[in-house]
Amino acid sequence: MRYGHFDDERREYVITRPDTPLPWINYLGCEAYFGIISNTAGGYAFYRDARLRRITRYRYNSVPLDYGGRYIYVRDNASGAFWSPSWQPTRHPVEDYLCRHGLGYTVIGSSQAGIRAETRYFVPLGEDLEIWQLTLANRRAEPAHLSLFSCIEFCLWDALDDASNFQRNFSTGQVEVVDGVIYHKTEYRERRNHFAYFACSEPLEGSDTQREDFLGPYRGWDDPQAVARGASGNSHAHGWAPIGSHHVRLALEPGERREVRFLLGYHENPREDKFDPPGSQTLNKQTVRPVIAKYLQKANADAAFAELRAYWDQLLGIYQVHTPDEHVNRMVGIWNPYQNMATFNVSRSASFFESGIGRGLGFRDSNQDLLGFVHMVPSRGRERLLDLAATQLETGGAYHQYQPLTKRGNDAVGSDFNDDPLWLVLAVAAYLKETDDWSLLAEPVVYENKPGSEQPLYEHLQRSLQYTLDRLGPHGLPLIGRADWNDCLNLNCFSDEPGESFQTTTHREGGVAESVFIAGLFVLAAKEMAELSVRAAQRLPDLAAGRPDKYRQAAREMAATALAHGWDGAWFLRAYDHFGRRVGSDACEEGQIYIEPQGFCVMAGLGLEDGRAEQALASVAERLATSHGIVLQQPAYSRYYLHLGEISSYPPGYKENAGIFCHNNPWIMIAETMLGHGDQAFDYYMRINPSAREEIGEVHRCEPYVYAQMIAGRDAPTFGEAKNSWLTGTAAWNYVAITQWILGIRPTYDGLQVAPVIPAAWSGFTATRVLRGVTYRIEVRRAGPGRAVSLQVDGVPIDGDVVPPPPGGRDRVRVAATLG
Ligand code: BGC
Ligand code: NOJ
Repeated sequence: MRYGHFDDERREYVITRPDTPLPWINYLGCEAYFGIISNTAGGYAFYRDARLRRITRYRYNSVPLDYGGRYIYVRDNASGAFWSPSWQPTRHPVEDYLCRHGLGYTVIGSSQAGIRAETRYFVPLGEDLEIWQLTLANRRAEPAHLSLFSCIEFCLWDALDDASNFQRNFSTGQVEVVDGVIYHKTEYRERRNHFAYFACSEPLEGSDTQREDFLGPYRGWDDPQAVARGASGNSHAHGWAPIGSHHVRLALEPGERREVRFLLGYHENPREDKFDPPGSQTLNKQTVRPVIAKYLQKANADAAFAELRAYWDQLLGIYQVHTPDEHVNRMVGIWNPYQNMATFNVSRSASFFESGIGRGLGFRDSNQDLLGFVHMVPSRGRERLLDLAATQLETGGAYHQYQPLTKRGNDAVGSDFNDDPLWLVLAVAAYLKETDDWSLLAEPVVYENKPGSEQPLYEHLQRSLQYTLDRLGPHGLPLIGRADWNDCLNLNCFSDEPGESFQTTTHREGGVAESVFIAGLFVLAAKEMAELSVRAAQRLPDLAAGRPDKYRQAAREMAATALAHGWDGAWFLRAYDHFGRRVGSDACEEGQIYIEPQGFCVMAGLGLEDGRAEQALASVAERLATSHGIVLQQPAYSRYYLHLGEISSYPPGYKENAGIFCHNNPWIMIAETMLGHGDQAFDYYMRINPSAREEIGEVHRCEPYVYAQMIAGRDAPTFGEAKNSWLTGTAAWNYVAITQWILGIRPTYDGLQVAPVIPAAWSGFTATRVLRGVTYRIEVRRAGPGRAVSLQVDGVPIDGDVVPPPPGGRDRVRVAATLG
C-alpha cells in the first residue's frame, strides 16, 4: 500500500494522506540552521547543535504522535470554524491534502470549505532562518473573512535542560514584542548573546507569547482558546512557556489568492553590543532588522527559494544515471545523495527517532557519512576531516563522539572503540581521490583538542593504523575494546546492573577479546594507506618517504592472521570473547554467523584467491539473506548473555540482534561485485531500496524515500518493518555500493574508473559524473554476459578501466564502455 508517490520531475515525494504510519519527515537547512518537519508540520528547529541550541520545542514520543511544530490555524470568522491546513494539530478532516517533501523544503496544503491553504517551508542558503510562505485561495463564490493564527513554542535553548529543569525554567522565560516581531530572549540577560525571532509579513490583529494564554487552561494544540474565540490574548510571557503566535485577519474576494509570510530565525549579537540602548536590558535589533525586512518581502523569499533549487540541481548534477530501473535512477539521482547530506550534517542527532539530546557527531559515523557526501561539497568534507582528527588522542585512538557546537570530544563517552581511528583513513582516502588536494595531509592538527600538540594530518593517519598494531590479542587479531562497528557486541562489559551504559562500561579490564571485523577493516585501511603514501611520498616527500612498503606488509600480515585465526570453516568468524572463545562460529549455539566480517574481509580482499570469499558470501546467502534484506546474524540470541552485552538485550529480530541492519548490507553488495556477481549484488540492493519498498508501505512503515537503519528481521513478529529512518550509515554505504561498485564509476587517484558489475539482464546504462571539474558522459553497453570492460575515451580506445584526467584543460569527456 502507498501513502503517496514520487514526483521525479520535481524531485519531490508527494504524500497524499496525512495519517502516514509514522510521521514522514524532511530536513530544512543544510549549513547551520536546521529543522526537521513532518508531513503534518510537526518538528523543530535548531542552530548547529540539536542539543545545545534548540530553537523550538518538539514532544518526542508524544500522544498523539508528532506534537510540537510549525503550526498555522485558519479560522472562518463567519462561522467560527477553524482547522489546520497541515491536518495536525486540529486533525479536522481536510480535502485534497498533500505534502510535497522536496530538497530542503516542504510544502503542506489542503482545502476546507472552499478555502485552499498551502505553506512552503524552507531555509534560505547562507541564512539562519526559515521562511514559511502561506498561500490562501478563496474558491468560494462569495467573499471569505478569515483569521490566521501562527504558532510555535520556543525551547529554552538546551534541549535536555529544557525537558527536565522545570523549577528553574518556569521562571526564566523572556520575550519582547516590537513592531509585530516576537523576540525570544530567555537567558539573554546573562550569558547568551543569541536570540530567536518570529515575524509576519502582515499587520497583526494581536499576538500571544504565553502558551497557557493562547491555549487556555487545560486545552491542547488541537483547540486553542485564542483560535476558537478568534482573538489573541496579547499575552506577554514572563517565565512559564514562551511561544510565538501571530493573529492576522484577511478578507478574500471570490477567486482571490494571497500570500502571507512568516519568518522564524536565530541571531547572534556581538557580546559587547547586546543591548540597545547600551546599559538597558532591551535587545539590540539593529543587525537583525534588515534580515527580517529582507525576507518578509515576497520577491526576496522567492529568489531565495529559486537559489535553493539551483543549489540542489548543481549538487545532484555531479552524479546522474539513467538505467533500466527507475528505483536506481531515483535513489541515485535524488534521494540517496539528499539523505547523505542530512547524515553528514546532523550525524545521528536529530530525527524522529533521535532526540537531538543524546548523540553528537560520532567519529566512525561521520567518517563513513563523508563517503557519500564528499563529491557534493568537498570543502565541507575537508573541514570535517580536520575536526574529526582534532579529537584523536596521541595514542591514535579517538573520542567516540564530539559535540558539533564545541567541536570537542565528549568525555562522558570517551574512547576505546577500537575500530574508530581506522575509518579516518578510509575517509581521507575518499577525499583525496575526489579532490586530488594533497595539501590536506600536511595540515597541522591538534590531538585531543589541545593547542600545541599539532602534527600533520598524515601523522594522525599513521597513528590510526599504529593504534591497531599496538593492541593485538592472543591470536594476533585486533583487540575489540569497548566495541567495534557493532556498538552492541560488548565483550568486555559484563553488565548486570540495569541502566548501565553498554557502550561505556568496562567491567573486565585487560581482556583478550579480539575482533575479526577490525582485522578486515585494518587490512583495507592499510592497503589504502599504502596507495595513499605512494602518492604522498611524491608530493610531500618530507612526510611520507619509505612508508608504502610498511603498510603493504602490515596489510599482508593481518590478512594472513585473519585467514589463519578468523576463518570458521565456511565463513569468517566474528570475534574471540573475553575467555578466548569463538563468537560467530558454527560451534556457537546462537549467533553462529555474523554479516560484518563477511562483508569487510572480502572487501579487504581476503579469500579472493582461495575460494574462501566465495564461500563466505554463499554462507551469507544461505543463512542470513531474507526477502527484506540481510540480517545481521543468525540464529538470533534468545536470551541475555552477560559476556556479549547489548546485542543480546534486544528481542530476536530487532536492531543488532538479527535485525536487518541496513548499514552493512551494502558491504555484502560490494563484496559480491568484487567477485563479479552483478545479479546477486543488485538483488540485495533492491531488497532494501526504499523506493522499491514503497508499495509495501503498510509493512515497511517508514518513509519510502530514505533508508532506515533497521528493518525487523525474520525472527521478529514484525518482519519487514523499518525503524530509525534517515540518520544511518546505510545512506552513505548504499550510495557507495550502487554508484561505485554496481554501476562501477569510482574516483581513483589516477582518474575515473569505469568498471560496472551490473545485472546480466541490463543492456547498459548512461551516467554523468563530474570529477575535479571535468564532466564525464559515460555510456555503458553490454555486448556479452561478463564484466570485462573495454573503454573508448572520446572515440579512442584506452588500456585498462581508468579514464585519466583529460589533457589541456578540457572539461568534457565522452566515455564509451563495452561490457562482455
Ligand atoms: C544501538 C546502536 C547504537 C548505540 C549507540 C545502541 O543502543 O543499538 O545501534 O550504535 O546504541 O550508542
Ligand atoms: C549505530 C551507530 O551510530 C554506529 O556507530 C554503529 O556502528 C551501529 N549503530 C551498529 O551498532
